[in-house]
Amino acid sequence: MSRIVIVSNRVAYLEKSNQAGGLAVALGDALRDSGGLWFGWDGTTTDDESYEVSHSKHGSVTIATMPLTEKDYKAYYLGFANQVLWPACHYRLDLVNFETNYFDGYKRVNAKMADAVASLLKPDDIVWVQDYHLFSLAAELRARGVTQRIGFFLHIPFPSPGVLLAVPVHQWLVKSLFSYDVIGFQTHTDVVNFQSFISEHIGGEILPGDRVRAFGRETIARAFPIGIDVESFADMATTPEASDIIQRLNRRNLARAHVVGVDRLDYSKGLPERMKAFRRLLELYPDKQNKVTLMQIAPPTREAIVAYYDIREELEQLSGSINGEYGSFDWTPVRYIHRNVSRDKLAALFRGSEVGLVTPLRDGMNLVAKEYVAAQDADNPGVLILSRFAGAAEDLEEALIVNPYDIDDIAHAMEQGLSMPIQERRERHKALYERVRKNDATHWRESFLNALTLNAEEVLA
Ligand code: G6P
Repeated sequence: MSRIVIVSNRVAYLEKSNQAGGLAVALGDALRDSGGLWFGWDGTTTDDESYEVSHSKHGSVTIATMPLTEKDYKAYYLGFANQVLWPACHYRLDLVNFETNYFDGYKRVNAKMADAVASLLKPDDIVWVQDYHLFSLAAELRARGVTQRIGFFLHIPFPSPGVLLAVPVHQWLVKSLFSYDVIGFQTHTDVVNFQSFISEHIGGEILPGDRVRAFGRETIARAFPIGIDVESFADMATTPEASDIIQRLNRRNLARAHVVGVDRLDYSKGLPERMKAFRRLLELYPDKQNKVTLMQIAPPTREAIVAYYDIREELEQLSGSINGEYGSFDWTPVRYIHRNVSRDKLAALFRGSEVGLVTPLRDGMNLVAKEYVAAQDADNPGVLILSRFAGAAEDLEEALIVNPYDIDDIAHAMEQGLSMPIQERRERHKALYERVRKNDATHWRESFLNALTLNAEEVLA
């Protein structure tokens, strides 16, 4: 069996535990089975330009990390990755920062990471690169003589050609992807956007078997929707500790219903619109006043970037004004938590909430939607409200699908969710649960790795 080598900007926590997040869960088993290696940034910055790699062993898995210089951190991570690619791929061209040194930093870090990875590879390794920080890693590895199979998975949306054209180096980015043997996207829409760019703007060809040809190379571009480990999340929602949290939630809020949202505090998540929709719910349906609480958990993220600071200000202002306008001595309409909450608590909160609100303006997949479904009690499940612009909406049709920009639409969906008859809730949940289970983390990982390890003839067959 080939060894699997994962490369990503952040190296996730790997132990099998309650706190391990989506990617670590999805990749952990594959790494353990193959005695794999996970390489990435160690999360620190330094003045030292030696990019020294540190290794640690976790059972059969090796973790190798390197620091970045302060200059890299600003140009590559805060700059090109998170002020050019992230906003552009989330359709926020107004937030793209066109500093030219960002691109140099991005290329430099991809090259430095390639130096380190190339020196760690064994002849029959299979390399799987994750996300938008590392578009050009395979091209750098190929330039260093690496011939092993290399796959890429983009966790965020691939934008439509008209939007991608606004990124100055769009052609370079797309060309970089052709050094991978398989390019994985979250949804069919992403694949179509990619194919349209290839055929309309590069003069490339779309071939059978999800193959694309351009720049004198052929590769596979296919959707592999990412999933969660359903059983382990469902288990977390049903421990005695989880029941205790649910009881405490209900005691504090008397017989009130709960609407829950959990998102990194990112402008792509539609949080202000969501809060405005909650205010609209209270306005349009006065019987909901004093009867329903919105709990929004929004852990801090990328706070050194102005747009993230701005969204924080806006949310604090909005939650304060809704509470001031509608709150009473024994009811706080919006409970806004700007901190990390452990995954086992989240599982309990999901189970204890009548409505799960997942309304990003744009999202690659959104695993919170899947976790909310997994955490429900099948006999008395809550209702998922899901943005049509989350990748998850391509599959989770039985959710209440909303336009996340349309505040009235979200408010009506909340009312519909809060008053939905139990039979309908059960039917919708059953269908959603089956879908979440079918496209779970194992299915994602195995289908990607199968595509990456099959040779070209088999793929075409
Ligand atoms: C998104 C990206 C990931 C990233 C995560 C957290 O989910 O797709 O690649 O790791 O956000 O963002 P951060 O900038 O803190 O790594």
